[in-house]
Amino acid sequence: MLTVLITGGAGFIGRYVAKALVEKGYRVRVLDSLIEQVHGARTAPTGLPAEVEFIRGDVRDEAAVSRALKGADYVIHLAAEVGVGQSMYAIERYVSVNDHGTAVLFQALIDNPVKRVVVASSMSIYGEGLYVDEEGAPAENVLRLPRVGNGSWDPLDAKGRPLRPAPTPEWKQPTLASVYALTKYVQERLTLTVAPAYGMEGVALRLWNAYGPGQALSNPYTGVLAIFASRLHNGRAPMIFEDGNQRRDFVHVEDVARAFVLAMEHPAAAGGVFNVGSGQDRSVSEVASLLAAAMGRPGIAPEITGKARIGDIRHCIADISKIQRELGFQPQTRFDDGLAELAAWVAEQEADDKVQAARGELEARGLVA
Ligand code: UD1
Repeated sequence: MLTVLITGGAGFIGRYVAKALVEKGYRVRVLDSLIEQVHGARTAPTGLPAEVEFIRGDVRDEAAVSRALKGADYVIHLAAEVGVGQSMYAIERYVSVNDHGTAVLFQALIDNPVKRVVVASSMSIYGEGLYVDEEGAPAENVLRLPRVGNGSWDPLDAKGRPLRPAPTPEWKQPTLASVYALTKYVQERLTLTVAPAYGMEGVALRLWNAYGPGQALSNPYTGVLAIFASRLHNGRAPMIFEDGNQRRDFVHVEDVARAFVLAMEHPAAAGGVFNVGSGQDRSVSEVASLLAAAMGRPGIAPEITGKARIGDIRHCIADISKIQRELGFQPQTRFDDGLAELAAWVAEQEADDKVQAARGELEARGLVA
């Protein structure tokens, strides 16, 4: 029986990956420190299959990591701090957990090598995604300018006309616009640089916005759909940054888990980077109203704040043709079905709404403008 170590495996994505691997007959071990922001006061993980061996420990703790690696054949590295906005003030914590943590993992892997390490990278490393101008010509390395007065939220071409977002392929150069993005890029590069130097294979998955049941609803720094769900559940309006027309790709967490299994098993994945999304893009306003309807709260209109979070990107949408072509990945969850499932799950949950306090943290530091 082959053993897979999942760092951060008690988190939202990790639990789904663990379940998928157990179902495929792997022995699964999870190393997770159960950080309070995600897991609350819990001292034991919830939602992991009973077969999973759980080790409570920090990915920066050499002894814990070495213990967790004993007998492992594969590593899926998910342990990370994940809030883009929060990374802009909790700099030391983000760099420490994400980058020092990955360094400790690879230091330990030198003495306990595995066949393959799959790391969760992020679409945020692209910064602004790929754009096209009015003539359809691609524009790379687009930068977002501070919005002045009633100016455009969208990046502009040289003639001052808004550029349109286009699906972003893996060859687009990274533009690191937040501390979070920087730390994810370091994780990705450490994996792809160090693994082959020691006879291991490295793979990086650049994830778009994962959603689904089990996302930490009381964590105000989690993804936008969980934040909106928590607000609506408490009868409050979702707060939309900018004008709500910013676009993302929302991918169901079970599809993300399938991508991890493929990235771990498929011979063609070795050494590669792959985008993981649904292949369909949506605006933040659109998902706010679809979610309100799915949750039976169509009367709660979102509040459009007209302010941007520093470090946020405007648009980034996914080109998933590489993972489809090379690994045979196919997203299986329709967005409507995913939202209905999310709504049914949220209805059963307690969710402390801490979003206002989190926004206050950003505002106090001048990180919302
Ligand atoms: C998210 C993840 C990041 C992951 C990336 C790719 C979080 C916190 N961030 O980044 O870890 O690597 O996807 O999968 O999960 N928004 C609002 N109102 C809110 C919150 C957000 O309007 O209350 C807007 C944001 O301004 C942004 C969009 O929603 O335009 C998405 O934000 P968010 O869910 O935080 O994610 P990303 O920055 O896309």
